[in-house]
Amino acid sequence: MKFTTFLAIAAAVKLIAASPSRITPRDSNGKATVDVSKKTGPAKFLGSNFIYGFPDNGEEAQTVIPDHFLTDIKFNACRAGGAQTVFTGWGAGGYDQYIGRFKSTLSNYRSTRKFNGDFILLIHDLWGADGSSSDSALVPGDNGNYSEFEKFLAQLKKDINENDMLDGLVIDIWNEPELEIFWKRSWEQYLDYYVHATALVRKYFPDTLISGPSFAHAPSLDNEKWNTWMDVVAGNKSLPDRYSWHQIGSWERQPDTTVPDFDTLRSSYNLPKKPIDLNEYAWTDEQNPSTSVYYLSQLERHNVRGLRANWGSGGGLHDYLANLVYKNDAGEYHPNGEWHLYKYYASMTGDRLATSASDDLLFDVFSTISDRHVKILAGTRTIQAPYDVSVGKLSALGLPRDGKIGIRTYRFDWNGQFADVKSPVDLGCSKYSIVSDQVRFLIPSGFDGHILPKCI
Ligand SMILES: *[C@@H]1O[C@H](CO)[C@@H](O)[C@H](O)[C@H]1NC(C)=O
Ligand SMILES: *[C@@H]1O[C@H](CO)[C@@H](O)[C@H](O)[C@H]1NC(C)=O
Repeated sequence: MKFTTFLAIAAAVKLIAASPSRITPRDSNGKATVDVSKKTGPAKFLGSNFIYGFPDNGEEAQTVIPDHFLTDIKFNACRAGGAQTVFTGWGAGGYDQYIGRFKSTLSNYRSTRKFNGDFILLIHDLWGADGSSSDSALVPGDNGNYSEFEKFLAQLKKDINENDMLDGLVIDIWNEPELEIFWKRSWEQYLDYYVHATALVRKYFPDTLISGPSFAHAPSLDNEKWNTWMDVVAGNKSLPDRYSWHQIGSWERQPDTTVPDFDTLRSSYNLPKKPIDLNEYAWTDEQNPSTSVYYLSQLERHNVRGLRANWGSGGGLHDYLANLVYKNDAGEYHPNGEWHLYKYYASMTGDRLATSASDDLLFDVFSTISDRHVKILAGTRTIQAPYDVSVGKLSALGLPRDGKIGIRTYRFDWNGQFADVKSPVDLGCSKYSIVSDQVRFLIPSGFDGHILPKCI
């Protein structure tokens, strides 16, 4: 039998190096679904992005990480501002401590633009509010006075213009202001800053996009910070061009719940719909192939751009493409298991398909179709448990409502940030039954050593 239409399933799992035992499929914890009859727009690789991650190279684009590590994953956005360098920033040290951070930013900007990526510039890092500043260091709006902040922005405008840095630029108003390490003043001062800063950035950079508020906490209906921000932004017409927040950790839920909450809040304050950036996603122990699939599935379903959070510090922040590559003692870069996953994700071209997560919201799928060829990525969030994938409306591909279909399966292994697992592992092709216009198959827990029969 020849299969002209087939599905490729890429299941991302965490490799348990210590326990290579076979796992027999158990009852499934639930199912995620793909509807092959419903397209949801062209694939744009919304999650192939990260914050920081480029080695600094003076004022020039980095040259040490080979280009293919970026092009193979279709990287398209970065976010940086010179944090965690030897320079303390404008607030603590004025121009002399700012210019070093600006040069790091310029280098990262050029590294990003080399691949036509958008660059989200972090004002708070150029100012120096990255956790290293003392309580007494100046914060914009102290004593109701913005003259120092204006001076800073005027200098930034000059440096941005002189270095031809406007293409692809997005300016982020302030990072994670709810956290004291980033905003050491009252909430009222922050809201006042937000209004002032937006007006000033619009004045100095009239054609540049603004993102905000980049809160650490994802929106929820009763969150006071989100409510007061929306109220003040609506009243003062201080809207960003791209709404932004961070989606980090299971305690912050996931876009399936936070995007609808955001839309409800937005409507209640009569704010217009605009693009959304989740400009930091995934907690440190969520950075493995399986949970990355989970996040990518959520981002793609809600059409929001995502940038991987970067948990490196100091030099580690300014390297490794936010933990997708590592280097050996000779300084040569290698991909890790997650990079291979993003490479597969970048191969998912064509149109995206409608999907849904499992009812417990711990398992999700992303799927695309191109020339009747369906690809599906499936992964759990942090946990290891068996789940089903159900692919429905197969007759839309010209397949019989009851019959057979060939499915090729790949497995994505993970052995930590500093190990190449040479994935994906091709588990071969096997035949599945189509019953009542759908095919259902189990992704076993663990998945190591599970080999599907080869196609004949
Ligand atoms: C605002 O601060 C600047 C110094 O940053 C100072 O020169 C100026 O006098 C202050 N303005 C007022 C009204 O206090
Ligand atoms: C405008 O913003 C200020 C903070 O700068 C806030 O106190 C005020 O309530 C806002 N005005 C409206 C109408 O929302």
